[in-house]
Amino acid sequence: MTMAPDPRDLDLVARHALRMVADGMTLGLGTGRAAEAFIHALGARARAGLRVRVVVTSTRSDELARRLNLDVASLADIDRLDVAFDGADEVTPSLALTKGLGGALLRERVVAFEAERFVVLVTPEKLVDRLATRTPIPVEVVPFANLLVLRLLAELGARPVLRRRPEGGPFVTDNQNWIIDAAFDPLDDPAAVDGQVRKIPGVVDTGIFLDMASLVLVGDGGVVRELRPPRV
Ligand code: A5P
Repeated sequence: MTMAPDPRDLDLVARHALRMVADGMTLGLGTGRAAEAFIHALGARARAGLRVRVVVTSTRSDELARRLNLDVASLADIDRLDVAFDGADEVTPSLALTKGLGGALLRERVVAFEAERFVVLVTPEKLVDRLATRTPIPVEVVPFANLLVLRLLAELGARPVLRRRPEGGPFVTDNQNWIIDAAFDPLDDPAAVDGQVRKIPGVVDTGIFLDMASLVLVGDGGVVRELRPPRV
């Protein structure tokens, strides 16, 4: 089941997220509709004088950021990343995330990991009790190993499908890998499943993001809710 987010809520949540941005910061920029709403809001603020550097997670976000005249840096060229902003496909009450329906999960994880804070922008249809409830778990694989990964994911109880482009060939990530979308029954123990999937040779990354989000902003009918991770 996928429902399109309300663009007004994406715009609202993007402008709310800008409160976390200060002059001189270096920011990570995710991929997808929520991330693009944020990039547009950031571009407008930069036109009004805000100075920031950005690191992007996909060629698509790179093109948008450059079109809006943002100062795009490579990850290797920066000392620190203050905040990374991105969307998500699912968010649980403990702020476990599914990411990667847009195909940029690997770079999104790298940028989120490097950032002091990882802020996630969503609309309410993304909120779930357990991961794998509304979306499959994307798994990035090296093409050479795709049949092996498909077989072993099925042995783990998943219903895996190689992601394809509309024209029919495999969807190719910015890292020249492929994506397998692995539908599972809702996950009681996402850390265990993530560990099992990562052990399969040829798996590069999964869309299960645990203990990464510092803050989730939910744009919901004109109001923004802030969700924080549980205290440990
Ligand atoms: C991109 O690879 C994804 O992880 C996106 O962050 C995720 O799919 C959310 O995208 P939307 O904001 O377009 O729903």
